[in-house]
Amino acid sequence: MSTTFTLDTSTSRATPVAAPMKRLTVPAVRRRKAEIARGEGAPLVMLTAYTVRTAQLLDPHCDLLLVGDSLGQVVYGLPSTVPVTLDMMAAHGAAVVRGSYHAVVVIDLPFGSYEGSPEQAFASAARLMKETGAAAVKMEGGAAMAPAIAFLSERGIPVMGHVGLTPQAVNMLGGYGARGRSRAEAAKIVDDAQAVARAGAFAIVVEGVVEPIAVTITQSVDCPTIGIGASAQCDGQVLVAEDMLGLFERVPRFVKRFDDLGGRIEAAAASYAAEVRARSFPGAEQVYAAKP
Ligand code: KIV
Repeated sequence: MSTTFTLDTSTSRATPVAAPMKRLTVPAVRRRKAEIARGEGAPLVMLTAYTVRTAQLLDPHCDLLLVGDSLGQVVYGLPSTVPVTLDMMAAHGAAVVRGSYHAVVVIDLPFGSYEGSPEQAFASAARLMKETGAAAVKMEGGAAMAPAIAFLSERGIPVMGHVGLTPQAVNMLGGYGARGRSRAEAAKIVDDAQAVARAGAFAIVVEGVVEPIAVTITQSVDCPTIGIGASAQCDGQVLVAEDMLGLFERVPRFVKRFDDLGGRIEAAAASYAAEVRARSFPGAEQVYAAKP
C-alpha cells in the first residue's frame, strides 16, 4: 500500500499536501476497550516512528504512532534510554506529527523529565505537546507515577502508562529480562497497572512480563492495554518498527521480523558501490544533457 498523500516536491520531499484521512482521537482509542469487549473492535495497532518518512509509511496502518525514547538506542546508538533528552524528543516528535494524518501520535517523556513531581511532569509534557503537536505523552512507572498521571489528565494532557519492564529503570532492574517471575513482583506489576488506570491513563503499555500478568491486567483495568513481550490477549500490540522490519541482527524473543530490511539495504548499498566502481552509475538517464 502506498502512503495516503502525495508529496509536494516543489517545496520539500517532507512536506505532504492535504490529507484525505481524519486523525483518530484519544477518546476513540480509549473506547476501543469496550468495543473489543463487545466483540466489535479490532486490537489497537501501534508502532514506533522517529522520522517523517517512516511516519508517512506506517501511519495508514496504525492506530497509534509512538515517538518512543527507544530512539536513543535506535537512532543515536546510545547504550540505554537514560541519556535521552526533551530536546531530542521534541525534534523527532515534530517530524512524526508532520508525517502522519491518521494515527494518534504519543510521545515518550524521557528519563528525568517527569519523575520529580506532577508539576515537573506537566511542564515537560506541555512543552512536548506545544512543540510537536502530539496528542498524548507516555510515562513509565506504576503507583509512584499515579499522582502525576492524574495531575496531567485533569489538566488536558492524555497520558499513556507503561508498566512491567520499564527500560528507563534499567539501572535499578539490572537488565532487560522479563519481569514478574516471582509472585511478589507479579502482584506489584498488577497493582501498578491498576493504580495507573485509576489515575486516568487512557491506555497502558505492558512490556516484558510473563503472560498471565498481562492477561490479569487486561481483564482488570478499564482502559486498553498495549502489549510488547506480553500477550496476544492485550487490547493492542506495539513493536519498535526497526525491530519488526528486520534492521537489527539481534531478534529478541518478543519480536517477529516482518521483513529483512537490513539485508535489503546492505544489498542495495553493495549494488550501488559496484556500479559506481564500474562507472556504470550514473548512466545516461541520470545525467543532464547540455541545451542544444
Ligand atoms: O520507547 C519505546 O519504543 C517504547 C516501546 C518499546 C513501548 O516505550
